[in-house]
Amino acid sequence: MALIALGVSGGIGAYKAVEIARGLQTRGHDVAAIMTRSARRFVGPVTFEAITRRRVITDQFAAGANSDIEHIQLATDIGLLVVAPATANVIGKFAHGIADDFLSSLYLATRAPVLMAPAMNTNMLEHEAVRANLTTLAARGVRFVDPGDGYLACGWIGKGRLAEPEQVVEAADAILAPPGSLLGRCAVVTAGPTYEDIDAVRYIGNRSSGRMGYALAAEAARRGARVILISGPSMLPPPSNVEVIRVRSASEMQAAVNAHLSSADLLVMAAAVADYTPDQRTDGKIEKSDGPLGLTLVRTPDILADAGRARGSANRPVLIGFAAESGDPVERGRAKLRAKRADMIVANDISRADTGFDSETNAVTILTATGDEAIPLASKSRIAALILDRAEKLLSPVPARSV
Ligand code: C5P
Repeated sequence: MALIALGVSGGIGAYKAVEIARGLQTRGHDVAAIMTRSARRFVGPVTFEAITRRRVITDQFAAGANSDIEHIQLATDIGLLVVAPATANVIGKFAHGIADDFLSSLYLATRAPVLMAPAMNTNMLEHEAVRANLTTLAARGVRFVDPGDGYLACGWIGKGRLAEPEQVVEAADAILAPPGSLLGRCAVVTAGPTYEDIDAVRYIGNRSSGRMGYALAAEAARRGARVILISGPSMLPPPSNVEVIRVRSASEMQAAVNAHLSSADLLVMAAAVADYTPDQRTDGKIEKSDGPLGLTLVRTPDILADAGRARGSANRPVLIGFAAESGDPVERGRAKLRAKRADMIVANDISRADTGFDSETNAVTILTATGDEAIPLASKSRIAALILDRAEKLLSPVPARSV
């Protein structure tokens, strides 16, 4: 794992950099935080010191220290320079080679890859000067995590918010990751719920945040796979380096899965697909009356089972499903492994508060033809890594692609 310099410049998003530092550490990296003068107006260095357990660099010429050459030492030691948030000012300084503080000097002195997460007011972001600076940096090989849309500190709603910490951490990790174990493979991952529309305003759907599927997509991308994430409605920001296809209903999800099935080496059905859909969708809104309302629900296609049938006796793609159960997850998961002709079922108990739906954590049992393996409570990104470790063993050595 690498030593990462985390440059924090002066935007309201500076507080999110604390989460970024923690996330990088969780993935096993060592973090040296550098704060610009204006960053220190938003967050105190002590916060970063407590998290990184390192002195936070705040000054190029700190008294008593050899800090005027410290940036040269750090520049050679780091595997990556991350700047989050990156203000218009720091972007401008990097683009023009101005070295008037520790962070801008470090940028010139290092040969490590650089990742920046811009954050600023929408008009600043769209200003020709900033766009030109971003283009200059991109042409030099600097990588970016694009800002998101939403409420900005200035009261505007628009593009310019610092990307979510997890997106920055993933992008950093992807740059540092050794050539991935899934290089040359294609993973189709479904995530989130599906919504089955009753009329123009009402729907039925399953509870699902999409976290498990998004974590699997992120992990597969980190391992070098081409990842197609087919997502039902979810509030989560998509991981970097994945192709996202947004769908709403089970039938839309199936169409998207089928469109990519022939290129997939892995199909991971982490989506909580609705099992039933109204037999007809009413245009407009059904007016309510005092009496009960009858709805006829019909079964949705079973996407995983259909993929199992379509695969027949071939060994590609490897098929992975989930079984979220409140009864005996292992017994029911095993029945699903057979019924859906899957290679792996990840069974979890949704009756626990710390697993399943909206939780950041999960505890699962991985079921395959060769046996069951219980994975105790862990973060969903850790569970995703363990699932893919097992899935890689099921991949045939050379993907059998038709010519
Ligand atoms: O049958 P059950 O819904 O419990 O199976 C869960 C697994 O099957 C999950 O992997 C889910 O994504 C998948 N599934 C599906 N199509 C459905 C329902 C579930 O592919 N209509």
